[in-house]
Amino acid sequence: MQLVVSIADARTALRELRAQSRIVGLVPTMGALHAGHLSLVRASRAQCDVTVATIFVNPTQFGPNEDLSKYPRTFDEDCRLLEQEGVALLFAPAAEEMYPRGASTIVEVEGISDRLDGVSRPGHFRGVATVVAKLFHILGPDRAFFGQKDAAQVAVLRKMVRDLNFPVEMIVCPTVREPDGLALSSRNRYLSPEERLRALTLRRALQTMEEDAAKGETQVTRLIEAGLRVISHEPEVRLDYLKIVDPDTLEEVANLRQRSLIAIAAWVGSTRLIDNTIVEAG
Ligand code: PAJ
Repeated sequence: MQLVVSIADARTALRELRAQSRIVGLVPTMGALHAGHLSLVRASRAQCDVTVATIFVNPTQFGPNEDLSKYPRTFDEDCRLLEQEGVALLFAPAAEEMYPRGASTIVEVEGISDRLDGVSRPGHFRGVATVVAKLFHILGPDRAFFGQKDAAQVAVLRKMVRDLNFPVEMIVCPTVREPDGLALSSRNRYLSPEERLRALTLRRALQTMEEDAAKGETQVTRLIEAGLRVISHEPEVRLDYLKIVDPDTLEEVANLRQRSLIAIAAWVGSTRLIDNTIVEAG
């Protein structure tokens, strides 16, 4: 695996890879890699001729009171894992390389960026869209792989790709979970053993709602009530949102559509976790 840290070297390396490979797959990450990230690498390896990964803890997607400085960094182990998975090129720039002094251009996907996580994390999706647009420009992938775990991020980026005509195919891969159902997340390592158990409440609420939907409940207020009841059994879990939305626009719906996204975010101690599921009506 080749490691590059400058944009110039990344472009040169991509030119060389392109000469030998038809389809370039990209897996953007912030590092602290786990099996969820590696599932994206595997999907890219299966669907593309060559796979490029990025590790960049993007400062512009963290709010002033968020965990940027203490975001887990496990670079050497990450490199080992990516190498083992057959990644050809890793681009891991420093913050000054991606955002030189004076940079002031941003990508704002209006409307949709203010929904779900965008409410309690203002500016978060602007940071995500800006950095992903930059990575697409620098690396020019044919396909880019993202996790369904971050369903709102997927919706925002799909819209960006459409609105700005990026010649990139977005591939969304299923959420990888622990055997007990907890969605893998780099932030899970912040959880104490007690918090780790409490964190299962998010999944439990989603499952209850899924079951109700499977039994024929289509009224969103009823489904949400059932989910909230599950959450209320764990007073130490502080809900941010529990919503049922259109998976493409992230707008709330009153009744289940053919495909609806049930999304949840909650703080367990000081760690904010998210999870979601797609339900089909009828
Ligand atoms: P990060 O949180 O490192 O996640 C990188 C990719 O891994 C994202 O597409 C995310 O959805 C996916 N992922 C995380 N947990 C997963 C799981 N349990 N199962 C499947 N996929 C999972 O998301 C980001 O970084 C950043 O916002 C980024 C897109 C890199 C832009 O900075």
